[in-house]
Amino acid sequence: MSLGERSVAGKHVLVTGGAGFIGSHLVDMLIQSGAGDLTVVDNFFLGKEENLADARRIWPDLRVLRLDASDDQALEQAFSSIPQVDVVFDLAVIPLPTSLEQPKWCFDTNVRITSALCELLRAGRFETLTHFSSSEAYGSARFVPMTEDHPLDPLTPYAASKAGSDHLVRTYAATFGVDAVVVRPFNNYGPRQNDQQYAGIIPTLLRNAFEGRVSTIFGNGKQTRDYIYATDTARAALQLYAHPESRGKVVNIGSGKEISMLELIARLEHILGRSIPYEHRDPRPGDVRRHAADITLLQQLINFEPQVSLDDGLERTVAFYRERFACAEKE
Ligand SMILES: NC(=O)c1ccc[n+]([C@@H]2O[C@H](COP(=O)([O-])OP(=O)(O)OC[C@H]3O[C@@H](n4cnc5c(N)ncnc54)[C@H](O)[C@@H]3O)[C@@H](O)[C@H]2O)c1
Repeated sequence: MSLGERSVAGKHVLVTGGAGFIGSHLVDMLIQSGAGDLTVVDNFFLGKEENLADARRIWPDLRVLRLDASDDQALEQAFSSIPQVDVVFDLAVIPLPTSLEQPKWCFDTNVRITSALCELLRAGRFETLTHFSSSEAYGSARFVPMTEDHPLDPLTPYAASKAGSDHLVRTYAATFGVDAVVVRPFNNYGPRQNDQQYAGIIPTLLRNAFEGRVSTIFGNGKQTRDYIYATDTARAALQLYAHPESRGKVVNIGSGKEISMLELIARLEHILGRSIPYEHRDPRPGDVRRHAADITLLQQLINFEPQVSLDDGLERTVAFYRERFACAEKE
């Protein structure tokens, strides 16, 4: 290990949003990486106990605190109830679609979670914060690939909450010298992603396909995204935590590859071996037109290459749905 480099091995780690999609994969990876103690803070707004089933099998002592992380007093009490916290990964979030229905609540909650953690960090209650931003903070691409210097032009209250939180974390690092990094993932997919209310496009398409329903595509389907498999994101976040030069920085996490919605549907249809029924509707206000990550900084810092290709990741995700629906039919 070179000077300043560190590892989560033996560390006391707390993950907000750890019962969610990416958070639960991160929890699994933290266990594999030898974390010394592990706490999940989640209010189960979209998180699920079943997402933590693998973790609990390996680590029955996993501490799960069911609380609202935007309540700074509740969060402070939670920290006081744990013997020690060294490292925090902050993933708790009210998602984008909710912000179209409850903009103030989504914005306030997301920013409050971040500000509560920043204050605890400033007070020395833990050592290091890895905060999860989102490519949504950029808005639609003005140029591609999108570097970390791309203007922040959020199009939804959710995206505004991500941009605001990022600024807050960076200013705490710059002003108070706290140890923090902002990771900015592009679109994630994979097993455990929410497919109920407020779901993203891949889980929505697959669930509808398995349940025989028609999906809705907003716009002409030529809008693009950069998809990355959730375990690749979790691995990148862990490695960025470990790397001293990531401190105080914002770092994109993506595949660096752009794909349109129509192309994505065609790949899913190929894997499923049948067509996916969908209909077009007008684009929603705030829908991003184009996203493609520049991952040069990520590659420079941690020599990152996604381990799971899009085709492989989609195969695994479809297999997850096949298994789930096969089990449901047996019940
Ligand atoms: N999924 C993606 O494509 C994607 C892309 C870019 C960035 N991100 C970011 O990654 C992080 C994780 O996203 P995800 O897709 O796993 O979302 P998710 O909704 O699956 O997980 C978020 C978790 O936060 C919990 N939560 C919500 N409000 C809370 C609160 N007030 N207190 C405590 N817990 C609360 C939810 O119950 C859920 O378990 C988020 O910060 C998100 O903005 C996700």
